[in-house]
Amino acid sequence: MIPRSARHDIEQWILSELKPSRSTTAEIIYERMESQSGEQLAVIYEPLDYRKRSHWHDVAICAAFAHAVRGARTVLDVGPGDGWPSLRIADRFDSVVGIDPSPRRVRVQKENAERLGITNVEFLEMDVDAMTFEDASFGGVTAASSIEQTDDPEKALREVFRVLEPGGALAMVFEDYATYFPESDGDEGLWIDTAGEEPVLFYQVRAKSPPRETWYALFLDGPALGGDAELSRIVESLSQDRQKLENLEHGHEAPMRPEWFDIGFFERLAPLTREAKYFDLGHLTSDTLDAILGDVGFVDARHLDYRIPELRSFFDSAEESGKLDGFARSFESISELFGIAAIRRAGFGPGGFVIARKPGQAGP
Ligand SMILES: C[S@@+](CC[C@H](N)C(=O)[O-])C[C@H]1O[C@@H](n2cnc3c(N)ncnc32)[C@H](O)[C@@H]1O
Repeated sequence: MIPRSARHDIEQWILSELKPSRSTTAEIIYERMESQSGEQLAVIYEPLDYRKRSHWHDVAICAAFAHAVRGARTVLDVGPGDGWPSLRIADRFDSVVGIDPSPRRVRVQKENAERLGITNVEFLEMDVDAMTFEDASFGGVTAASSIEQTDDPEKALREVFRVLEPGGALAMVFEDYATYFPESDGDEGLWIDTAGEEPVLFYQVRAKSPPRETWYALFLDGPALGGDAELSRIVESLSQDRQKLENLEHGHEAPMRPEWFDIGFFERLAPLTREAKYFDLGHLTSDTLDAILGDVGFVDARHLDYRIPELRSFFDSAEESGKLDGFARSFESISELFGIAAIRRAGFGPGGFVIARKPGQAGP
């Protein structure tokens, strides 16, 4: 629980007046998205293209995942989103099982598997905190940007440890709070998502000490909102200004409309708020993650830089010198080598890609 003194005034007001109920990222973020992204998950939606650096990176990271859990017959993928990396690594294993608590994500994962004709992947609606698998069911586990999105990352990792076979590896990508977020000890974001049936106002607070990120979601009564011309206009501009308002650093950059960040604005919205929910993220740094992995029982935790900078430089210089076309046919093998080399070179923190092992001998 965050100490009251560390909370912002608006937060305190929301907590005492709107009494939001506790929810999860799966419900508030991922269940609301039709697709997680276009470009960032390019290889699921479009053919690989050697002219895009993101595709080189994608191939390298998927090779890194597959290499880290090599030898496994069945792999568990925690929180696949739209099916990543499950769908990209499935052909290297007997089977891959993806679990995600968001029914919508699972539907998209299944649709993508079908679209790509991949049959050795199964996607299940399940929370990593409460998996129904037997102990030691999987030879390897992958998790891309999902463990830190759960309610309790330590509990999630204990569960992952339980379902891993002795000797099995965990390969996970995570957002390292020490490098991912700005230096300031508190920033706020405000935007409205009007894509669904009812507008949802999001108010987000991030802080360094204690490390956390909290999102409040105010589910607004659309028709009633329409009756208030001024509020409707504000909602319209907030949905258009989303990009500008996200990542706003309190104190560093003036909010576009300071009045939106005062309690009066929330007081006006209160009668139109049908329901309020929130989730808290504890967040991880390389150090805290290593400590948790050690406590849980994992050994040999090693990190690498998720961005694979050497691959970026390779791509950039090939592009600058006009040699990129020369790599057109071999780009997947070259990217793979970069990914595998990065895993082999992995060392002791920090870095957003971590591999760790459950002690014991792998089975036959
Ligand atoms: C940032 S997305 C990452 C998706 C995908 N792995 C990728 O890298 O593109 C986080 C995913 O984790 C899932 N997730 C959130 N909480 C979870 C939980 N408790 N157990 C399993 N998955 C969860 C979300 O529904 C979402 O699909």
